[in-house]
Amino acid sequence: MSTDRKTYDIAVIPGDGIGKEVTPVAQAALDRAGHGVADFRYETFDLGAERYLRDGAILPDEDLERIKGKDAILLGAVGDPRIKAGILERGLLLKLRFALDQYVNLRPSRLYRGVTSPLADPGDIDFVVVREGTEGLYCGAGGAIRRDTPQEVATEVSINTAYGVERVVRYAFGLAMKRRRHVTLVHKKNVLVNAGDMWQRIVDRVAEEFPEVTHDYLHIDAATIFLVSKPSRFDVILTDNLFGDILTDEAGAVVGGVGYSASGCINADNRYPSMFEPIHGSAPDIAGRGIANPTAAVLSAAMLLRHLGFDAAAAKIDAAVEADIAEKGSLDRTTTEVADDILSRID
Ligand code: IPM
Ligand code: MN
Repeated sequence: MSTDRKTYDIAVIPGDGIGKEVTPVAQAALDRAGHGVADFRYETFDLGAERYLRDGAILPDEDLERIKGKDAILLGAVGDPRIKAGILERGLLLKLRFALDQYVNLRPSRLYRGVTSPLADPGDIDFVVVREGTEGLYCGAGGAIRRDTPQEVATEVSINTAYGVERVVRYAFGLAMKRRRHVTLVHKKNVLVNAGDMWQRIVDRVAEEFPEVTHDYLHIDAATIFLVSKPSRFDVILTDNLFGDILTDEAGAVVGGVGYSASGCINADNRYPSMFEPIHGSAPDIAGRGIANPTAAVLSAAMLLRHLGFDAAAAKIDAAVEADIAEKGSLDRTTTEVADDILSRID
């Protein structure tokens, strides 16, 4: 029988710790939800702490080139206490985000029924943070002189380009059109007067193209308060790289822990593959015990499907996760148990 079903090539980077345990569950969810509409062919890359400790390689050019040819990337988690902070983060994770020009870091937060928020009166929480992914303080612009002397000087410079800001602003407004049509710009324009002012002007200008979308502004410090005092006020939060990093950890906590939070590092031009990963880290304290919750990894598989245009398949995963959490979210389960419970709901 002939079929015009396309096969998608997926780079899989399980990475470290529990990343290795949850990523196969995400692949299984992809296969199940994609059944009948898309096929996935996986290539697993040995990248992360183990590889680095074994042969010193972090992200060899050859691997990067192979990854560039894929349709999307599934990533588990990167990080290991044996390795100095910054080596894998900059050399692997950030290198991928920058080399693949993943300028939209998309981080949805929803409070699922069955999950207890640490907030006494959380209300309905359903927002998405659009975090700029290739600029700001993450660029690596800076340096140190007179290291280890009392006269040491260290700088990190925040790079903001009109081009880089505009493209992520436009993405945020486009996304708002598919949601509740409200964008909140978060910055610190009362102090960061150069970058903040540019962000605001670009938002005001792009907003004119989206008359149905309302927008407002919060300083980052005020935004951290609203995130716990009235999270239901947010629909699309638009912010720079570092503010977005901090805010999305807080967002994860507010919706009951980063165990339910997935993210996408998106190259919205589709020139390079986009990368989907749970927000949680490698959790070395529980790694290897088979108790990591694969829910966030499974949700990142849904984001991958949506990115490739398979909205119905993605919705199947979302619905399965939602039903699973509502029924069993409060139970202690092993990775395999959660995987079986969720996968059996995807038909
Ligand atoms: C994240 C992480 C990364 C970041 C680190 C590990 C480089 O905290 O994905 O939020 O800061 O972006
Ligand atoms: Mn982070």
